[in-house]
Amino acid sequence: MENKEIKDNKTSENGDKKKVVLSGIRATGNLHLGNYYGALSKFVRMQDDYDCRYFVADLHALTTHPDPKMLHENVKDILAEYLAAGLDPDKNTIYVQSDVPEISEMYLLMNMHVGIGELMRTASFKDKARKALGIHSEGDEIEKEIIGNQTNQRVNAGLLTYPTLMAVDILIHHADLVPVGKDQEQHLELTRRFARRFNSFYKTPYFSEPFNFNFGGEAVKVPGLDGSGKMGKSEGNCIYLIDDEKTLRKKVMRAVTDEGPKEPDSPVSEPIKNLFTLMELVSEPSTLEHFKNAYADCSIRYGDLKKQLAEDILKTTLPIRERILDIRNNDEYISKVVRQGAEKARETAAKTLADVREIMGIRKFY
Ligand code: TYM
Repeated sequence: MENKEIKDNKTSENGDKKKVVLSGIRATGNLHLGNYYGALSKFVRMQDDYDCRYFVADLHALTTHPDPKMLHENVKDILAEYLAAGLDPDKNTIYVQSDVPEISEMYLLMNMHVGIGELMRTASFKDKARKALGIHSEGDEIEKEIIGNQTNQRVNAGLLTYPTLMAVDILIHHADLVPVGKDQEQHLELTRRFARRFNSFYKTPYFSEPFNFNFGGEAVKVPGLDGSGKMGKSEGNCIYLIDDEKTLRKKVMRAVTDEGPKEPDSPVSEPIKNLFTLMELVSEPSTLEHFKNAYADCSIRYGDLKKQLAEDILKTTLPIRERILDIRNNDEYISKVVRQGAEKARETAAKTLADVREIMGIRKFY
């Protein structure tokens, strides 16, 4: 029995129940270094010590209307990338969000406790609405503009209720830890708020509050190579795990820099800071120190910095790329992994949904 529990990965060797970890990535295209360092590399590092459930968020991807022919391929890409990065299907529950219909039902129920005002104030919603409607104003004005919008452009309700669905992903597993990048922290804050609200409304301490996890460090924000902001698919500044050597080197060599320091100990500009941040993630500490010192004494050559950076990124990505290409063609293996994952995920999800229905007063007559 004890052995079986260890194999299930729910109990640690000393018999304690492991903490539950839950995270997911939207099926909107290949994974980039932001996804890798903000999320996936942590998923892999956590798989031995926690009871981990990782999924592909295909329902969340629908909020931005993917080509129906591409959605399934995108899901498959991410599954292959999860496995290629080192997630072991025997240690983790790996599943596709839409394979767990309990999530959709609980999303409907949870929406009854979520305010449209708080959803409209979410930064990610404002961002997407701004882009969809071509709105330029900041702050509270955006909400008025969205409501008053008379054009043919629409911001769909799925985008508005995106944080409810994310909260349900997490709460349906009673997750303790949610490894995500910095950009997802507001969603996590909302999840905690919805959990507290549910508990206090029904006067039952049913949900606990989940937190981000980064091995004791701050949440990660991986910058892009274009001089400002974060690496992201919609920013078009990504280095992908699947990039081949030539493409990757080219992207790094084209990274935005500045004219170089003119005096010793000059302040470091944003584009160069970004390159140092990337280097901190992929290179040896001594390499980063070398280039920081070279910056400080004005001997730095950005060409050398970029060459070294590309080299060190490739050390991580090339072996993953090879495994992706291999796994991506193995439909049978991928199906087996997600079938097994869906079964396990649905066990917990069905139990939580039954509890939530009961707490909210939904009972059957037959
Ligand atoms: P998504 O698909 O946008 O991103 C997936 C993960 O990658 C991280 N990430 C980054 N981290 C650091 N620097 C970057 N430049 C960067 N870009 C992306 C994100 O923080 C995230 O961890 N809403 C989620 C998906 C989701 C989810 C969930 C996550 C749905 N339900 C439940 C956790 C738990 C999203 O859109 O992530």
